[in-house]
Amino acid sequence: MTTSTTSGTATGAGTGVSTVVRLRGVTKEYAGGVRALDGVDLTIREGELLGIVGPSGSGKSTLLHIVGTLDRPSTGTVEIAGHDVAALTDRKLSALRARRIGFVFQAFHLVPGVGALENVAEGLLYSGLPRARRRRMAADALARVGLADRMRHRPHELSGGQKQRVAIARAVVGEPALLLADEPTGALDSASGEAVMTLLRELNAEGATIAVITHDTEIAGRLPRQVRIRDGRVVEDTVTGGATAGGSGGATDGLSYRASGGVSEGGRGAA
Ligand SMILES: Nc1ncnc2c1ncn2[C@@H]1O[C@H](COP(=O)(O)OP(=O)(O)OP(=O)(O)O)[C@@H](O)[C@H]1O
Ligand SMILES: [Mg+2]
Repeated sequence: MTTSTTSGTATGAGTGVSTVVRLRGVTKEYAGGVRALDGVDLTIREGELLGIVGPSGSGKSTLLHIVGTLDRPSTGTVEIAGHDVAALTDRKLSALRARRIGFVFQAFHLVPGVGALENVAEGLLYSGLPRARRRRMAADALARVGLADRMRHRPHELSGGQKQRVAIARAVVGEPALLLADEPTGALDSASGEAVMTLLRELNAEGATIAVITHDTEIAGRLPRQVRIRDGRVVEDTVTGGATAGGSGGATDGLSYRASGGVSEGGRGAA
């Protein structure tokens, strides 16, 4: 086993595990001179479930937007499923995003005034599939997140946790290779947050590759991999050995292990 401390060695070659995301030397400077990302190397392999943690303003959302191809880096390279994002036209990039990436935003971003089914079907708008097919797939996705009995409920008729599950259903309805979630539990009480995390773990067990931004250190501590960000840099990349889909033991190559004991596991019940 190698003992290098970067995650840059994950070629996937010969391991049978393919690389979904590869960032190399990524920086992002916003107008006004804020350097939100400062030389980020990050590799995410198929079947991983990882948490991105760090203080407010450290660059987590910026990182997620760049991984999700919603934004381009100032310098550095971004590869999604082997495609160099810089080499793609905006149109090709949109297609790649629509087909391969699902987003869950903290504030749900549901369309008000239309039912859960339409909200989820919206996730397939650019799929080219006929409407009836989109609606059938949306119904399946809602059933998958436990909302088969809420298809017609509009966002204001749903609880916060249910809205978040609709948002997750919308993100996964097209079976994206990569699911990106920005504080999916941030607006929820601990029981609803727990249910959302359980759902994400189930989706991961079914094969989805998932990156979750969270402020909640307890939630992060229970994810198989944690990437810690500070001042736009990855300062720690830890695999705690939790189960990832596909039994990809190779996912630990080149990553550091959490050295400290004292990770409180399941110590706190949902209040
Ligand atoms: N559009 C923008 N223009 C200029 N500066 C920005 C923009 N978006 C973010 N920033 C700055 O970039 C830095 C990183 O922001 P980012 O939103 O990625 O942080 P974050 O880690 O997601 O924080 P939080 O936990 O509060 O959501 C911050 O200092 C922020 O002020
Ligand atoms: Mg953020």
